Amino acid sequence: MEENYDLTLIIHRYDPDTKRSWKQTYHLNAGRILRFVDLFRKINEEEDPGLAWNSSCEHGQCGSCSVKINGKPLLACELLVENAVEYFGTTTFEIEPLNVAPVIRDLVTDIEKAYKRVDKVKPYIIQSAPLSEKGEAYSITPDEMAPYINATRCINCFCCASACISSHRGFLGPNAMLASIVRLMDPREMEKIERLRVLYSDQGVCRCHSSHACSFVCPKEIDVAHFIALAKEGRFGSKSQKK
Ligand code: SF4
Ligand code: SF4
Ligand code: FES
Repeated sequence: MEENYDLTLIIHRYDPDTKRSWKQTYHLNAGRILRFVDLFRKINEEEDPGLAWNSSCEHGQCGSCSVKINGKPLLACELLVENAVEYFGTTTFEIEPLNVAPVIRDLVTDIEKAYKRVDKVKPYIIQSAPLSEKGEAYSITPDEMAPYINATRCINCFCCASACISSHRGFLGPNAMLASIVRLMDPREMEKIERLRVLYSDQGVCRCHSSHACSFVCPKEIDVAHFIALAKEGRFGSKSQKK
């Protein structure tokens, strides 16, 4: 196994001051266990301090470093050089921002705009079930959680939304629908009618083509399309329940 690789990174750049877009090529020699966020940092430190990119936790938990690499949306803080070379079969990588929100600069997008779709589904318990008489915390058994525990691992990285093939402009997108479905499966959530109304609206599950692209790219290995399919089948309440 090689210890170092000679890499070519072709990065999509955008300057908001001049509105200019271009692709910039960087050549760098990098150790096999560097991650792509390390490569961006290396470029900043050694070659081009002006390259803008985003990260926060650098531990696969916040979703802020998601980019497209050779067309696949993924987390730049999780992808090691050696794994990228093996997966893509090349040492040349074209890197671009996710196409889920306007680009602010280079690889940084205005993710607040993308979050508006998630906000539409109210990603929290709208009306919680009453607590026990003793006032104890609400408890959920492992058996109750088993059907939806995987869906709770979503970090809203928007990789699935970026890969989604639905072309409807108003479509909520896979992660927003998942955020609602996980609450429909949560025994604490009492407000089903409002959730079903949004899911079965013109912006909801009817716009999904069941392509499974969302499941394929999810870095948390959530089978997003499976959960959307459950909603399509009416597992969480009849479509006639919508207002
Ligand atoms: S479902 Fe997966 S790909 Fe989609 S936002 Fe959540 S973690 Fe990211
Ligand atoms: S299964 Fe539906 S939500 Fe997922 S990528 Fe395909 S069209 Fe989009
Ligand atoms: S920086 Fe948080 S997931 Fe990559």
